[in-house]
Amino acid sequence: MISKAPAKVILFGEHAVVYGQPAISMAINLHSTVEMDYSKETTIDGLKPDFKYHSYILKALEIVGIEKNLRIRTESMIESSSGLGSSASISVATVSSALALKNSWKRNEIAKMAFLTEHNVQGRASPVDTSTITAGGCIIVSSDLMDNALWKINLNERTWYVSRIEINELNLIVVFSGVKGSTAVQVEKVYNFVSKNSFGMEIIKKIGNISIQSIKELETGDVEKIGELMNENNKLLSILGVGHEKTNEIIESVMHYSYGAKITGAGGGGSVIILPKDEDRVMEILESKGYRPFKAKMDRSGVSLVQ
Ligand code: PMV
Repeated sequence: MISKAPAKVILFGEHAVVYGQPAISMAINLHSTVEMDYSKETTIDGLKPDFKYHSYILKALEIVGIEKNLRIRTESMIESSSGLGSSASISVATVSSALALKNSWKRNEIAKMAFLTEHNVQGRASPVDTSTITAGGCIIVSSDLMDNALWKINLNERTWYVSRIEINELNLIVVFSGVKGSTAVQVEKVYNFVSKNSFGMEIIKKIGNISIQSIKELETGDVEKIGELMNENNKLLSILGVGHEKTNEIIESVMHYSYGAKITGAGGGGSVIILPKDEDRVMEILESKGYRPFKAKMDRSGVSLVQ
């Protein structure tokens, strides 16, 4: 069995989603694959399995409930700790291949089990990454039931509804700052900020409002308004303390040639998404600074079985 899973970008609402606010995210065309067959002994990329290096794969197999020996091979185009969902992509592809081996491949089950995998390995987490990568296209994750619901995820008395948003193609440029951010560290940082500052929750709610406002603009493809909301969301993320000098520098350098830009994912480095006015100029500026920007296209399929 071979499963192929995309990467993702969070368009609006990261961090706020951990506190029940809505977030909007989109699968993009960077992929990982996980190949899995029954075998005499279990190997992962030719090595003996080790929880230190293969935590997501081993946890996913445990959650799916596969006890037989497997030969597993992985490949990924997604930089780790870059905010683009590398671990979620591997978790989703692993669950997908494992469920296919058991003849019980179902997209909503993959979303649930891959989320449990991430939650077990990482601690505090929302299902945004795993659900986006499973569903493909653009989705909203919210604690309220919305139109076009795909599935619902429950954990520890918390419920997230995952719903489809139909948007126009969005021509984003994605660039990794080169600074690997740890999701767990950034999530903890925001938790401390929110518990110590009386206005912390107001910032979280403001971010949630931006996600809601963005739905209409994304559906109609109003790039000027989408860009403004991205800039506003980014300012609020900086107040929460998850900005970084490298990502600020990237955003400032392309400001005149874009409608908007923001960090995507946990922050503290990681990646930036840019909605360009002048795509070539933005690419040129970033390349001249030594970055490797990438013109992202929406991945509409989500996780798929290749074989
Ligand atoms: O950087 P990533 O891809 O791990 O995104 C994390 C998104 C957060 O909202 C910060 C955490 C979460 O689990 O939703």
